[in-house]
Amino acid sequence: MLRSWSIFLVAALCTQIPGVLSAAPSGPWDAFNFAPSSRTVKPVSIFKSEGSVENGKALTDAGSGKTTFNSGSWLALDFGKEVGGLISMNIDSVANSSAFALSFSESPMFVSPTTSDDSSFPSANMSYDGVLEVQSPLREGFWTQPADRLRGGFRFLTVVSKSTESFTISNITCSISFMPQTEDLRDYAGYFYAQDPSFHDKDFLTKIWYAGAYTVQTNIVPLDTGRAVPFVSSPGWENNATLGVAGPIIVDGAKRDRAVWPGDMGIAVPTQFVSTNDLLPTRNALSTMFAAINPTTGALPESGPPLSQQGSDTYHAWTLIGTHNYYLYSGDTDWLQGIWANYSKAVQFLENKVTASGLMNVTGLRDWARLGQGGLNAEGNALLYRVLITAADLASHLNESTLQEAWTANSTSLKAKYNEAFWVPELGMYRDNETTTLCPQDANSFAILFNLTTSSNQSASISEGLQKNWNDLGPVAPELPDTISPFISGFELQAHFLSGNDARAMDLLQREWGYMLYTNLSVQSTLLEGFTANGSIGYRSYDGYNYDASYTSHSHGWSSGPTSALTIYVLGLQVTSPMGQTWALEPNTSGLPAAEGGFQTPLGWFGVKWTSTSKLFSLTVTTPSGTQGIVTVPGDKSIQLDGRTIELHGSRQLTVGGGTHVITAN
Ligand SMILES: *[C@@H]1O[C@H](CO)[C@@H](O)[C@H](O)[C@H]1NC(C)=O
Ligand SMILES: *[C@@H]1O[C@H](CO)[C@@H](O)[C@H](O)[C@H]1NC(C)=O
Ligand SMILES: *[C@@H]1O[C@H](CO)[C@@H](O)[C@H](O)[C@H]1NC(C)=O
Ligand SMILES: *[C@@H]1O[C@H](CO)[C@@H](O)[C@H](O)[C@H]1NC(C)=O
Ligand SMILES: *[C@@H]1O[C@H](CO)[C@@H](O)[C@H](O)[C@H]1NC(C)=O
Ligand SMILES: *[C@@H]1O[C@H](CO)[C@@H](O)[C@H](O)[C@H]1NC(C)=O
Ligand SMILES: *[C@@H]1O[C@H](CO)[C@@H](O)[C@H](O)[C@H]1NC(C)=O
Ligand SMILES: *[C@@H]1O[C@H](CO)[C@@H](O)[C@H](O)[C@H]1NC(C)=O
Ligand SMILES: *[C@@H]1O[C@H](CO)[C@@H](O)[C@H](O)[C@H]1NC(C)=O
Ligand SMILES: *[C@@H]1O[C@H](CO)[C@@H](O)[C@H](O)[C@H]1NC(C)=O
Ligand SMILES: *[C@@H]1O[C@H](CO)[C@@H](O)[C@H](O)[C@H]1NC(C)=O
Ligand SMILES: *[C@@H]1O[C@H](CO)[C@@H](O)[C@H](O)[C@H]1NC(C)=O
Repeated sequence: MLRSWSIFLVAALCTQIPGVLSAAPSGPWDAFNFAPSSRTVKPVSIFKSEGSVENGKALTDAGSGKTTFNSGSWLALDFGKEVGGLISMNIDSVANSSAFALSFSESPMFVSPTTSDDSSFPSANMSYDGVLEVQSPLREGFWTQPADRLRGGFRFLTVVSKSTESFTISNITCSISFMPQTEDLRDYAGYFYAQDPSFHDKDFLTKIWYAGAYTVQTNIVPLDTGRAVPFVSSPGWENNATLGVAGPIIVDGAKRDRAVWPGDMGIAVPTQFVSTNDLLPTRNALSTMFAAINPTTGALPESGPPLSQQGSDTYHAWTLIGTHNYYLYSGDTDWLQGIWANYSKAVQFLENKVTASGLMNVTGLRDWARLGQGGLNAEGNALLYRVLITAADLASHLNESTLQEAWTANSTSLKAKYNEAFWVPELGMYRDNETTTLCPQDANSFAILFNLTTSSNQSASISEGLQKNWNDLGPVAPELPDTISPFISGFELQAHFLSGNDARAMDLLQREWGYMLYTNLSVQSTLLEGFTANGSIGYRSYDGYNYDASYTSHSHGWSSGPTSALTIYVLGLQVTSPMGQTWALEPNTSGLPAAEGGFQTPLGWFGVKWTSTSKLFSLTVTTPSGTQGIVTVPGDKSIQLDGRTIELHGSRQLTVGGGTHVITAN
């Protein structure tokens, strides 16, 4: 039954472009959705005003009429959250020599009449980008920002008088440029809702789930709105470069880099799946990487065009891992078959780097920003392990049994070599390579997440060891000193849940993502790219960003780890084969009284609602008919399925089919 039904579905879906099927149910969670209800948005308030500005309030939602700027004045407007796109306004009256300019900033720290925050290039003077001069001489009438000067991410817009003559304007709006394929930005396919009465903001978990989802929405961009390369000279910026083979396309950040980065997608795409389920931008990004494969060596680029960075074995691995994520969520077999020749060649590219030691010698050294990449490195080999496991799974779906067997066999031997080379029993963690005692956050998180560990005791020890890196704001990465990386922390978060330490995972979530969501150094809506150990936003100052704190992105999809983690580990629901033909449900109640949520695949709606007290755990799960799931019931009380007591002989797992089921334990 299941079998013939899936064949029918595969046939039906063959030509389907992945997209949103229908809306998630509405409820109290909608109040926490950050996405604006219209694609045209107005400032909500005045952040700061200097000099003689008459009726500045008219430029906000709250006012009416027109605003006059007199000599030397400026006004900073606040959109209330991260937005991005093109500014329009009515220029109502100008004198001959009137002139004015606009500046943009994500963080309130960089609101300035003389420069925007930086996006073109990092410079220690924090004023590389400068301002946008509005056309000169000014003409009265409706004005729209030139498309090539698009600003992809900002919360604050400053209007600055540049002459002694006055001018009068009205009706400032921003036409949102991200997610161009979607009319209603709030129309999500999935949702999540949980209250945590023990935290100072009981709605924190719901807010952070939606903050991650909105962050990724701001990273879905039209094809021709990438950062120009070579970078324009100072002052200025230009966002009209072509980003790949088709649009819309998923990039790393709203303000910058505005380019495809496959590592970032390792977090951003699971977020996208559980929230908007709008996977076309992901397919376009992956297609872009496979089209740009080096035909001789099989190397994939580290980033998409026009940046087209080369020389990263780890980001090469992320494109391959991302291919599996995309296929798992979409079941897009036609696409997989189309890229298969290049995909398998790219797997072989990494396999060719495996030395007699049985480990890959990392020679493409570029990476997520960590120091000390290269050689027989633990992070690189953890990613190779995940590549082999996921490659074997993809091969099984294409009936490529020879490759499936070879990749499986190689993964088994890599796991053994990995543990021999990198596990340090005295430290209870994996080291970065065979000549160091540094135990990195990335490889240790990956080891649990990708199943390189060989016992639950080993995973427990790593989870404990990772916590030793924490300060009040999160883990300071040993492999990138003085830095808290929400990207790598997104993997650590999953590692704590997977090793059975849900209290530790919740603690990490509150520290690190609580800081990011509430700090007034950021945008209080979308999520920071990274920050320093003391919470300053000078991420990577000494490591490529030239001490330019204004260059940091405040809307980076790679920081959205909690969104999928809350769905997969707290709610507990995930797909385990393409489109959720099989699925798993294992709630980590984490001390919460209740949680609910769900997502969609081309097969339909997957939803869960549970409540938990010391006496009774109760859940309702709904999945498409024809699917099958394994439910792991928390606690130790006796289990009832749809009202009948189930004898599980010590196991807490039961297999259920699609449809709606009620499971209780009391
Ligand atoms: C404004 O500019 C126009 C055209 O350049 C010129 O004819 C006119 O005299 C100027 N008016 C003033 C008041 O400067
Ligand atoms: C942020 O909050 C701190 C502490 O309340 C305050 O001193 C500072 O002025 C605020 N900064 C901004 C940009 O609002
Ligand atoms: C800031 O530094 C850049 C070089 O990185 C330079 O081109 C630019 O002129 C400087 N801007 C200011 C306002 O000093
Ligand atoms: C205000 O600007 C919007 C475009 O953002 C435009 O559609 C509208 O007509 C303008 N309103 C007025 C009163 O000019
Ligand atoms: C971007 O816009 C600038 C200014 O209009 C133009 O000179 C440049 O050729 C454009 N670049 C691309 C890739 O279209
Ligand atoms: C596969 O790689 C070749 C270069 O070797 C390229 O020409 C082709 O377009 C790629 N195919 C796909 C589907 O990306
Ligand atoms: C890794 O490759 C580099 C560059 O080819 C080489 O110098 C180094 O000796 C190799 N390391 C190992 C452990 O094989
Ligand atoms: C081994 O790891 C350490 C810590 O990351 C790093 O400093 C060192 O360069 C690495 N050694 C090699 C041979 O790559
Ligand atoms: C794989 O083989 C099965 C069984 O013969 C068949 O139903 C399925 O269509 C094949 N899949 C592909 C992608 O060829
Ligand atoms: C499996 O590993 C061996 C030894 O490293 C290597 O020669 C071979 O290419 C690998 N096979 C595949 C299919 O990657
Ligand atoms: C983890 O790997 C072991 C083999 O090393 C395997 O038996 C087990 O099923 C794997 N677990 C998962 C969740 O894939
Ligand atoms: C792992 O096992 C060892 C001995 O079997 C024990 O001493 C240690 O406490 C365990 N570690 C954890 C984290 O459970």
